Amino acid sequence: MKFIVLALCFAAASALTADQISTVQASFDQVKGDSVGILYAVFKADPSIQAKFSQFAGKDLDSIKGSAEFASHAGKIVGFFSKIVGDLPNISGDVDTFVASHKPRGATHDQLNNFRSAFVSYMKAHTDFAGSESAWGATLDAFFGAVFAKM
Ligand code: HEM
Repeated sequence: MKFIVLALCFAAASALTADQISTVQASFDQVKGDSVGILYAVFKADPSIQAKFSQFAGKDLDSIKGSAEFASHAGKIVGFFSKIVGDLPNISGDVDTFVASHKPRGATHDQLNNFRSAFVSYMKAHTDFAGSESAWGATLDAFFGAVFAKM
């Protein structure tokens, strides 16, 4: 059963077309410089994600947003997201890296789904998302589907 689930996840990532991949990469290029804005959108949408970060837990989001520490974390998280987008469709190594670092941190499926929807809302507000929505849907299904199969 596990093999079938993993095989389906691999099929999902490799089923992305070259057009979908280039659409997602070009779309992400438009926002990847705004890592602070992306992390802010994620924390705002689900404060329980912010609460997992010991240095930000319990702090007012609008006050920490401008700090160097916030920028540094945002850069790491969005930088890794950028690596996943750049590696498409071969993201199984990135999935393993993510699961290895985030399973022990207790990141839940709800938090990951909220991360995804906050990211999509951010993209809708900052890009012309209509042309890339289905390519993003397939990409996010591939990444989160593979992650959920492993944690
Ligand atoms: C939505 C649930 C998530 C939770 C609760 C979570 C939690 C955390 C925590 C607590 C840290 C450690 C911060 C520190 O150094 O003190 C961290 C680091 C990190 N997170 Fe997440 N994270 C989540 C989702 C994501 C996603 C979706 C990505 C990117 C695809 C990501 C990428 C990273 C990276 C690159 C680091 C720094 C490297 C590392 O320490 O692993 N995180 N995360």
